[in-house]
Amino acid sequence: MYDLKPVGKYKITVCTNLPCALSGGYHACEYVQKKLGIGYGETTPDGKFSLKEGECMGACGDAPVMIVNNRSMCSHMHPEQIDKLLEECK
Ligand code: FES
Repeated sequence: MYDLKPVGKYKITVCTNLPCALSGGYHACEYVQKKLGIGYGETTPDGKFSLKEGECMGACGDAPVMIVNNRSMCSHMHPEQIDKLLEECK
C-alpha cells in the first residue's frame, strides 16, 4: 500500500492471495503484465501505469480483484475487464 518510490499516474495493485489466485487471479496477473509490458514493482516508460502485488482486499467473492490508486476496487478482472480498465485510464 505504501510506495517507497514514485509510481505512475495509475497504480494498479493486483490481489495475489490464494482465493483470487484460485479464481483466475494468476491469469489476470499474467494478462495485465503482458498488456502493460511491465512486472510487479515497475512503471511503464511513459509514467502512466505502475503494477504492484497486493494482499487480500476483502472481496474474495469478486475475484480476481484489483485496486487502482488505493481507491477504486475492480472486481471480476478477467481479460475483457482488464482491457476496459486500461482503456478507461487513457
Ligand atoms: S484474496 Fe483477493 S480479495 Fe481476498
